[in-house]
Amino acid sequence: MSIQLVTTVAGLRAESARLLRSRNGVSQGLVPTMGALHEGHAALAHTAVEQNDVVVASIFVNPLQFGDAVDLDRYPRTLDADLALLEEQGVDLAFAPSVEEVYPGGEPLVRITSGRLGEKWEGASRPGHFDGALTVVAKLLHYGMPAAGLPSGSLPDGSSGAALPAYRAYFGQKDAQQLALVRRMAADLNFPVEIVGVPTVRSDDGLALSSRNRFLSDEEREAALVLSRALRLLEERANAHEPLDVESAQAMIESQPLVALDYFDVVDPGSLEPLAENCRETPFRGEALALIAAKVGPVRLIDNMPLSS
Ligand code: PAF
Repeated sequence: MSIQLVTTVAGLRAESARLLRSRNGVSQGLVPTMGALHEGHAALAHTAVEQNDVVVASIFVNPLQFGDAVDLDRYPRTLDADLALLEEQGVDLAFAPSVEEVYPGGEPLVRITSGRLGEKWEGASRPGHFDGALTVVAKLLHYGMPAAGLPSGSLPDGSSGAALPAYRAYFGQKDAQQLALVRRMAADLNFPVEIVGVPTVRSDDGLALSSRNRFLSDEEREAALVLSRALRLLEERANAHEPLDVESAQAMIESQPLVALDYFDVVDPGSLEPLAENCRETPFRGEALALIAAKVGPVRLIDNMPLSS
């Protein structure tokens, strides 16, 4: 079936409700994106299509999460290619609203604040970014919510349709801090949605896919591989129950002249607080996340690796 493009909230609600009803569906998935889609987004869409009866993907470049107007203007807009990628994954509806549709009264006066969790790591170098991202995610989660209640007898067990359809939203593990914040927002503010994290997609040489990779020269792209190599070193240590030799991994990154490291640390996956220093010296046990951010030439890249032992 071909994908349908809607540009208004009313159109999105009407079409998703119609599809859910016509399929006797019991679940709806939302994939929020800013477009410029790549295989990482395809993995989000693919997972959503596997798990839900109706899937909506939003394409909206959110001005609120850009600190700099130049960055906002420079952000790639590739609607036709994006629609083709989503259609290939079986997404039903693409929601691509205008800025006026999402913010009819101009910039919202009241916003979501990301709190302590949003101030560190990426938040430290991009003040206000996560407040802007969470504010639009909150709005998108409202827009993409399935119509409440189903026609009587439409559930697979033949029971009445009083049950609410399941609602899931999909975010990449690549943006680990955003994912942690969205999970906390949904939990802290009781959003009736399951937040699903989808593993990072990498190219064969290990580079995590990102809309920003297109700005790397060949030489910078080659240099950027040190980020995933350093993360893999920690992963190997964790898998072997060895101390996480963070210093060696960091030295590896710092030996690459085109790479300027911003941060590199091992943190608790929920709170993103750094783990006690002893995880570096004693055999690693438990769950953690290695976080990294660096400028490679002019391009700021982030990556991470879940560690489990
Ligand atoms: O990760 C993104 O692409 C954006 O931050 C999101 C979640 C679509 C909100 O604008």
